Amino acid sequence: MSIDFEVLWGILPFPAFVIDKDNRFIEANGAAEQMVQTSAKQMQRKSLAEVFGAASVVVDTAATARRKRGSLIQYNVDVALAEKSVQSCNVHVGVMGRDDPNLLIIIQPTSVAQKMSRSLTHMASARSVAAMAAMLAHEIRNPLAGISGAAQLLAMTASAEDQELTEMISQESRRIGELVDRVEHFGDERRFERNPLNIHDVLDRALRAAKAGFAAHVNFGVNYDPSLPDVAGDSDQLQQVFQNLIKNAAESVDKPKGNITIRTSYNSGVKFAVSGSHTENVPIQIEIIDNGRGIPAELMNDIFEPFVTSKANGSGLGLPLVSKIVTGHGGMIECSSADGRTVFCVRLPIWKISKEAH
Ligand SMILES: Nc1ncnc2c1ncn2[C@@H]1O[C@H](COP(=O)(O)OP(=O)(O)OP(=O)(O)O)[C@@H](O)[C@H]1O
Ligand SMILES: [Mg+2]
Repeated sequence: MSIDFEVLWGILPFPAFVIDKDNRFIEANGAAEQMVQTSAKQMQRKSLAEVFGAASVVVDTAATARRKRGSLIQYNVDVALAEKSVQSCNVHVGVMGRDDPNLLIIIQPTSVAQKMSRSLTHMASARSVAAMAAMLAHEIRNPLAGISGAAQLLAMTASAEDQELTEMISQESRRIGELVDRVEHFGDERRFERNPLNIHDVLDRALRAAKAGFAAHVNFGVNYDPSLPDVAGDSDQLQQVFQNLIKNAAESVDKPKGNITIRTSYNSGVKFAVSGSHTENVPIQIEIIDNGRGIPAELMNDIFEPFVTSKANGSGLGLPLVSKIVTGHGGMIECSSADGRTVFCVRLPIWKISKEAH
């Protein structure tokens, strides 16, 4: 079956442009015409800088992609159109060929790119949870200690039948205590210690802990890129990140055929704009891939928010904690889930670059 690329180009839901070696437009699809409010034909007389502004991140990304001869993605950058308002977008630039190549530019407004964790809103929810955590820890721990103490006293004189009940009180109190611990941990505002770390050591430790406990039933595959440079990070915190991701994956897979793959790779083409001005290079890529039941569609946009869970005993604090730690490292996390394949991809900066930036 042959594909009609004209039609495909027309129905692409995101503004897409092709520019030549002098940054002049050759093609623009329908979504691009709408965005720029100019027909593709009229655009052909213009240059990239005329449409987006000479200082635009789009012009800058195109130049870098050309210099590096490789595709680039800029996440969460502000794109302004001549007299139009600024919008937060992900900018993809693809290099089409070898010598003096044309470039494909796709601009994806981030309101559409919901699969990316929205770090800023997460930071805000993290802060409100942090405040609540302090209150919880203070207000719940003491009465809880009283309740379990009383249950233990009762158990000493209770009949066998009633002991079942006192045991239940103790067990449930313990569960509440654990929840308070987790929430408190989430609210922990201490700064991370950033050291040069071999991410594979961190992953191996997380894997060992997983295999010894909650993920004993799962088949694991690892696919490490041994040439990865060190990341700048806090090893305990990052271990927490991967343990949480592996735990979620393990909880989603079926027992006999459950499979989790951990893959690392280097991707120099990913930059991440932090607060508009400062960009962070996040080339170290760690993917946790599982073949489980997938993320429920109705939760997809909210899984990084606190207390969002599909599990009877879940607290919904795993992913918000992951997001908080990764963001605190200057990194980012994305997820996708389709056709029996769920991928959580963590991107982190390398040691040298993040030292320069701080
Ligand atoms: N690998 C995955 N596959 C399918 N669904 C997932 C996966 N990871 C996360 N989810 C979904 O995201 C929700 C939120 O995950 P999160 O780790 O924050 O909380 P939880 O696992 O429910 O509870 P907790 O981690 O506190 O025990 C989960 O309840 C689940 O619905
Ligand atoms: Mg979890």
